[in-house]
Amino acid sequence: MYNEYENEKFFQEYAKMPRSQDGLDSAGEWRQLKPLFPQLQGKKVLDLGCGYGWHCKFAAEQGASQVLGLDLSWKMIEEAKKRNANPQIAYRICGIEEYEYPANTWDCVVSNLALHYIKNIDEVFQKVHQTLKQDGVFLFNMEHPIFTSGAGQDWVYTNEGKPQYWLLDNYFYPGERKTHFLGCDVTKQHHTLTQIIMGLLNNGFALAAVKEAEPPEEMMHIPGMKDELRRPMMLLVKAIAL
Ligand SMILES: C[S@@+](CC[C@H](N)C(=O)[O-])C[C@H]1O[C@@H](n2cnc3c(N)ncnc32)[C@H](O)[C@@H]1O
Repeated sequence: MYNEYENEKFFQEYAKMPRSQDGLDSAGEWRQLKPLFPQLQGKKVLDLGCGYGWHCKFAAEQGASQVLGLDLSWKMIEEAKKRNANPQIAYRICGIEEYEYPANTWDCVVSNLALHYIKNIDEVFQKVHQTLKQDGVFLFNMEHPIFTSGAGQDWVYTNEGKPQYWLLDNYFYPGERKTHFLGCDVTKQHHTLTQIIMGLLNNGFALAAVKEAEPPEEMMHIPGMKDELRRPMMLLVKAIAL
C-alpha cells in the first residue's frame, strides 16, 4: 500500500512542521484532545497511525502498562523509536487496515490525523469496537469533512495570494481526494459527518464528545494558524465501546 510518508521529500517537509519539531504542545488540537483521554494508569493503549509516537509517549507517561503504536511507514516508526522510546511502548510497521484487532484486548484506542487516509472507515470502526474491552475508549482526531470534501483541499486565494474563502464542494461524494500538501501530491479519503458519526453508532459505540479543533490564542503567532479559525480543519471524537 502506498503511503506518502515514505517519500523522502514529503518526510523531510513533515519534519519541519511545528508539531514535528516541538511535539504535542505545538499541535493545534492538543489542548482540546488531551482532556478527552481517560485515566490511563495501568491501561493498555493502541495508537493507529502513531507517526513519531507522541501520543504513545503521552500514554506511557500517564502510567499505561502497555502501548502499541502502529504505522504503515517504516520511516515514521524509525523516528518514533528514536524520539519517543519507552519500555512500555512497542512500535510496529503495520497498516491500520491490516492489524489483527484481537478481541477484547485494549482499554483505549487512539488515532490522531490518520483516519482520513482510510478508505473503509466503517470497517475500522467495527474492528476497533471488537478489539476494545467493554467501556473502552476510542479517541480520534481526523481531518474534518468540511476540510476533506473539496478538490485540492485548499483556499481560494486573492490575487495577492491571501486566503479568500474555503471551497466546500462535492460534500456528498465520499472517497478519494487528490490533494497537495507539503509540496507533494497526497491522496486522502473524504468521509461525510454522517458516515463518521453513524458509523460509530452502528458499530456499537456511544458518543461521549465531539469537538472541532479551534487553535488557542497563544498559538496565533504560528504561520497559518489564524486561518484555522475560519473553517474547521479537524474533528475530534471520543466514543465508548458498549
Ligand atoms: C499526520 S501523521 C500523524 C502521526 C501521529 N498520529 C501524530 O499525530 O503525530 C499521519 C500518519 O498516519 C500514517 N498512516 C497513513 N495511512 C496509514 C495506514 N493506512 N495505516 C497506518 N498508518 C497510516 C502515516 O504514515 C503517518 O505517520
